[in-house]
Amino acid sequence: MLPQTRAQQRLLIKGGKVVNDDVSVVADVYVEDGVVQQVGPNINPEPSAGLVVLDATNKLVIPGGIDTHTHMEFPFMGSRSKDDFFTGTKAAIAGGTTMIIDFAIPQKGCSLIEAFDTWKSWADPKVCCDYSLHVAVTWWSNKVKQEMESLVQNKGVNSFKMFMAYKDVYMVNDEELYEAFFCCKELGAVAQVHAENGELIAQGAKKMLAMGITGPEGHELCRPEEVEAEATQRAVTIANALNCPLYVVHVMSKSSAKVISNARREGKVVFGEPIAASLGTDGTNYWNKDWAHAAAYVMGPPLRPDPSTPGFLMNLLANGDLSVTGTDNCTFDICQKALGKDDFTKIPNGVNGVEDRMSVIWEKGVHSGKMDENRFVAVTSTNAAKIFNLYPKKGRIAVGSDADIVVWDPEATRTISAKTHHQANDCNIFEGMVCHGVPVVTVSRGKVVYEGGVFNVTAGEGKYVSRPPFPPYVYQRVRQREQVCQPVPVKRAPYTGTVAGAPVTQ
Ligand code: URP
Ligand code: ZN
Ligand code: ZN
Ligand code: ZN
Repeated sequence: MLPQTRAQQRLLIKGGKVVNDDVSVVADVYVEDGVVQQVGPNINPEPSAGLVVLDATNKLVIPGGIDTHTHMEFPFMGSRSKDDFFTGTKAAIAGGTTMIIDFAIPQKGCSLIEAFDTWKSWADPKVCCDYSLHVAVTWWSNKVKQEMESLVQNKGVNSFKMFMAYKDVYMVNDEELYEAFFCCKELGAVAQVHAENGELIAQGAKKMLAMGITGPEGHELCRPEEVEAEATQRAVTIANALNCPLYVVHVMSKSSAKVISNARREGKVVFGEPIAASLGTDGTNYWNKDWAHAAAYVMGPPLRPDPSTPGFLMNLLANGDLSVTGTDNCTFDICQKALGKDDFTKIPNGVNGVEDRMSVIWEKGVHSGKMDENRFVAVTSTNAAKIFNLYPKKGRIAVGSDADIVVWDPEATRTISAKTHHQANDCNIFEGMVCHGVPVVTVSRGKVVYEGGVFNVTAGEGKYVSRPPFPPYVYQRVRQREQVCQPVPVKRAPYTGTVAGAPVTQ
């Protein structure tokens, strides 16, 4: 069947079970020019040259995964993440993900628009699937405010990430956070936070090094769960004071997840994003005797040594307290990690995940019996599309939707390993994990880009996807609250009694 070019974009996927977030139905799917044209029983298009037919009997046909959080070729901590936009999106495709949302991150004092243009210039010639860009707000000024507006109006950005950690590098203070949240709300954007108390981390790191703790375990010890939970609560409080929707990226701990869960139960507009790493492995690895093994897991916020963390986060993802999944894919080789061989604060932060997210969530979420196939689609694709205003173009298999589709074998298994993965780095935090749930075919905008282990990708064939502001899934509630939840002054007759004279000074 391979290779197929974009000019031959007619595709029929026969006999599978089409799974959306709300319903599953056995149906054929017919695609032309990258868009789903028909979903239903016994579709029989005119056979002609260029019609590709895939048999999906006994398989699931699901919307391609959307990875809400990646850092391809990210210049960071004295190095640059190993997966670029080519290897990163190729690996994504092999894992059943058909769209990534990466982050353009300006240095303090630098232009957000320039950062956006720079990241886009890296991505455009290399991406093998569709992508979009969040933009980080790492400092505050009137210019930043104007640039946020311009990014929303002219560049299709509807989400901004604020760092509460990485002191002196990316961290913003509470006043800046308040300003950025206010601006997001005005513009109809989603405010994202990296929630960790950067001041406590800086002090804690000094303390660990002074105690002679220089290895990867120091990375977790200087930023325990409460450091993440405190920042999460602070972000929730500030966002709620402004009626600004909040999205907490990379939820890594039970404590932080509980803060999000409570906020949602109090009716606040908050979304939590656990990642493949926090759902699939844990921080006991920082205590591994092999330095390289331990260093491979270093990321911020850290994985947690409490081994019940992944299962707990999966429970919350299954029940709706957490909403959506990314990976924070930011890969470094062991030799790059070794920049911090004598000082854990110098180990470049980041782990893999873009290739394995779907299988890890199927294994730990669906195979374990915690969630059904529809919830799986919701947390790997649909909810991301709704929150970031891509729905129903992305995140759904329906007439008119982009044909980003995966034929998924729920029974097949695969063993994750750095020896066989398609990512550019030389280690894998899920090494040896056996996962049920394997992507058999991946379709990107109607083109079969991966089938049975064989790629048919072209660098630069993915497209930048603009995201309009005011996603209804997020902003319907925000706008309504803006109208009906404003405090009003109490109407009173004016006070007509005596007013005390000026205080007597002695
Ligand atoms: O360790 C991490 N998370 N690396 C990427 C940067 C970030 O904070 O997302
Ligand atoms: Zn972060
Ligand atoms: Zn090892
Ligand atoms: Zn990140």
